[in-house]
Amino acid sequence: MTAISTQDGKYSEETKLMKGRVALVTGASRGIGAATAKLLAHHGAAVGINYYNNHEAAQSVVGEIEASDGKAIPVQADVTDEAQVKKMVQQVSEAFGSIDTLVLCANRTFTVAPFINYQWSDFEEKLLGELKGVFYPCKAIVPSMIEHKRGCIVAISTGLSRYPSEGFIAHSTAKSGLDAFIKTLALELGPLGIRANAIAPGLTLTEATVFLPEEYREKTAQATPLRRNAMPEDIAGAILMLASNEARFINGVYLPVSGGIQML
Ligand SMILES: NC(=O)c1ccc[n+]([C@@H]2O[C@H](COP(=O)([O-])OP(=O)(O)OC[C@H]3O[C@@H](n4cnc5c(N)ncnc54)[C@H](OP(=O)(O)O)[C@@H]3O)[C@@H](O)[C@H]2O)c1
Repeated sequence: MTAISTQDGKYSEETKLMKGRVALVTGASRGIGAATAKLLAHHGAAVGINYYNNHEAAQSVVGEIEASDGKAIPVQADVTDEAQVKKMVQQVSEAFGSIDTLVLCANRTFTVAPFINYQWSDFEEKLLGELKGVFYPCKAIVPSMIEHKRGCIVAISTGLSRYPSEGFIAHSTAKSGLDAFIKTLALELGPLGIRANAIAPGLTLTEATVFLPEEYREKTAQATPLRRNAMPEDIAGAILMLASNEARFINGVYLPVSGGIQML
């Protein structure tokens, strides 16, 4: 397969990149996760739409997918709770078959403050939340990926894990842990036919970033070679690329998707 889309921008059955695949996207009711779930479904994957609180938003993502003849179900679970994660994985597997694609998008909110004002309790909550949110879903799904000798994991890191910014100490530290976790999975699971990669978005316009002053967003856009901030769909495109078989030899990468503001 060489073409990604037809000339009119629509995808024919032959050019669908995720045909026959089963994906679970955590944090898929909003933001980057929602855009990713829709794109994977558009490309033929059956998708579990994980959410935490917002059933209505998850249901709306499912509705959009089904309206375009795609397959999706909403699955509620707190990704930091092992029992809930196991139940969610079971629900998706029962609905669509064993999961071969895991996209880790659930977003842990965190306090933005300089180190001197940071409390250990806030720091610990972010660290443990971020790492449990990747550990438990991987722990629940990897055994069946091993059994089927195929699988793909894409986790969402951040440019801030390599290029820190004042006030983001907990986020940068937690995501650095995620980066190391994914690289280790890539090393240990690669021989078993499973790839693991991290996407590092730059500032992306979602509900998670509305708290940033407009001036900050504009300054970031102007410092970006492509002269804008990312939209969730920009990040979803890179996730689709990594999840698809076209990226079959890409393993263990940290891929900035930042319009060039962060270059490795
Ligand atoms: N936006 C950015 O600029 C940016 C930049 C770099 C990296 N990232 C990373 O990209 C990922 C997605 O961020 P986003 O901006 O798309 O977030 P967002 O718009 O705030 O969406 C957050 C999603 O995570 C879900 N969620 C929150 N806590 C959860 C939990 N404990 N268990 C399960 N789901 C949970 C929410 O579900 P409900 O709707 O039910 O609450 C929602 O679907 C995060 O890992 C974030 O760190 C974002």
